[in-house]
Order: sequence, then structure tokens, then C-alpha cells
Amino acid sequence: MSHNLLKGKRGIISGALDSNSIAWKVAEKAHAEGAIFTLTNAPIALRMGEINKLAEATKSQVIPADATNVAELDVLFQKSQEVLGGKIDFVLHSIGMSPNVRKNIPYEALNYEFYAKSLDISAMSLHKMLAVAKKQDALNEWASVVTLSYIAAQRAYPFYNDMADAKAMLESVVRSFGYHYGKAKKVRVNSVSQSPTATTAGSGIKGFDDFFKFADAISPLGNAPAESCADYCITLFSDYTRMVTMQNLYHDGGYATTGVSMEVMLGNTAK
Ligand SMILES: NC(=O)c1ccc[n+]([C@@H]2O[C@H](COP(=O)([O-])OP(=O)(O)OC[C@H]3O[C@@H](n4cnc5c(N)ncnc54)[C@H](O)[C@@H]3O)[C@@H](O)[C@H]2O)c1
Repeated sequence: MSHNLLKGKRGIISGALDSNSIAWKVAEKAHAEGAIFTLTNAPIALRMGEINKLAEATKSQVIPADATNVAELDVLFQKSQEVLGGKIDFVLHSIGMSPNVRKNIPYEALNYEFYAKSLDISAMSLHKMLAVAKKQDALNEWASVVTLSYIAAQRAYPFYNDMADAKAMLESVVRSFGYHYGKAKKVRVNSVSQSPTATTAGSGIKGFDDFFKFADAISPLGNAPAESCADYCITLFSDYTRMVTMQNLYHDGGYATTGVSMEVMLGNTAK
């Protein structure tokens, strides 16, 4: 079902690792809605080779870039404009990783080198992308930048570890850079706070399956799947959301504003 919502738009989509990735679905939908874009991921993730299937299906070029490396981001934005034939209209930042989570190190005993990496990869990388784009004047007026967040930025989720701190920082970059870029070039910056989703990053969180069921039982609409998240991102890239910026937008089936559900109260979270 296509509405040509992104016809004539050029984009950069980061974070498609495999077909479960939220970014993968965004790329498929952006293609169906008429956009052209480049795909990017860390060189190490590209070695898996999966992304080439997506590139073929969406007729996109893959440009490797470690999102913590400003020089590589510089090349990414430069090359993307060359390949796509003009300035960029939308950017998806769909990047997150915590070495502390990967190594099962508890929050009270964080390894600080890893902690710095988590913040750099999962939050500062958005600042770096925006700073590179602004310096190059790579984005068109009214361009839309979307990143993905999680409600652990606002409330305590013990299993989310230092990723909670990274998401809090990420959402702050959305507001702060959103202000400056909005003033300078009318560029919009928003985060989508997504339900737990079975992806490589999501399933890496300890106790993911139990929590997934719990969140599903709380949310009146159930957990939002990756496909719907992609639909929402497409609307944010489109001209129908032109005046939305500096927001953290919950895409979670109603989870964030539900106190308790009957299922959870009666202890029936199994599905
Ligand atoms: N899955 C969930 O439950 C969930 C919920 C809310 C928000 N999110 C967020 O959605 C985003 C996308 O994650 P996903 O769930 O699709 O999982 P995913 O594992 O498919 O995607 C994460 C991506 O980050 C990339 N990445 C890691 N380090 C990088 C680096 N240095 N440079 C460039 N790219 C790098 C990975 O290669 C991968 O493609 C993340 O920010 C994640 O925190 C996920």
C-alpha cells in the first residue's frame, strides 16, 4: 500500500543489520513510498553481508560509516549527496549498542570505558551526524531527522542498564540540536520511543522475552511491531508532519500512559 508520501525525497538510513531491524523495515517502506536513499552501517556489521539484499531490493548504495567516527560520517554525507544527486530530506538514526549489556555487567558496577562507548555509539553519534550534516549544509530546509528511543529514558527499567542513560542523552540531543537546526535551517529532529521489539539490539537485553510479554499485556493496543514503527517514521519524514520537531513521540500501543491493565493485575501476562 503506497501513497507516494516520500516521492522525490532523498534520505540516509542507518542501522539495518538484518531483516528484523527496525531500519530494515523503514528502508523497505521508504522505497515503497517513492524515496531514494543510501544505506549505512558500521563496517563490522556490513561484513555479515545481509544489507546487500536490502540494497538490491531498494536500489540503494551502501556507504560504510562507524557512527562514532566524524571523518567517516563526513564521507557518508558527502557521498550520499553525490549518489542521490542533491541535498538530503530525511535521515534515520537507528543505532544502539552497549558493551556493558553485551557482557552482562550490572549497572552498579559499570565498566566506565564501556559506559563511554555506550554513550558515544547510542547517543553522541546523533550529535555527530547532525553536526556533520549542518557543517556541510547537507540537509534541505524542512528535512526530517528521526532517531529511536526507549521509555527507560524517563523511568527506571533495571534491565536496560546504561542504555537508559544513553537514551536520556539521546533525547536531550534531539531537543538541543533540534532547536539550533530548526532556527538555522528549519530542519526537524524527533525521537520515536518504541515498544520492545524482537531485534538483535532488543533481544540482547536481559529478560527481554518476559518483559516483552509484560509490556504487551499493559498496552491497550499491544506492543507496536517494527512494521508499524516504520510506518510512523515514514509519516515523520513526510511533509504531513512539517511542524513537529524536538519531540519524543511514544509509539508503544498506549504503554507509556497506562497505569495497569486487568491482565497484569490478574497475573495473566502469558501470550
Ligand atoms: N528493539 C527494541 O526493543 C527497541 C526498542 C526501542 C528502541 N530501540 C532502538 O532502535 C534502534 C535500532 O535497533 P533495532 O532494535 O532495530 O536493533 P538492531 O540490532 O537491528 O539495530 C542496531 C543497529 O546499530 C548498529 N550499530 C551499532 N554500533 C554502530 C556504530 N558504531 N556505527 C554505526 N552503526 C552501529 C548495528 O550494526 C545495528 O544495525 C536502536 O537505537 C535501539 O536502541 C529498539
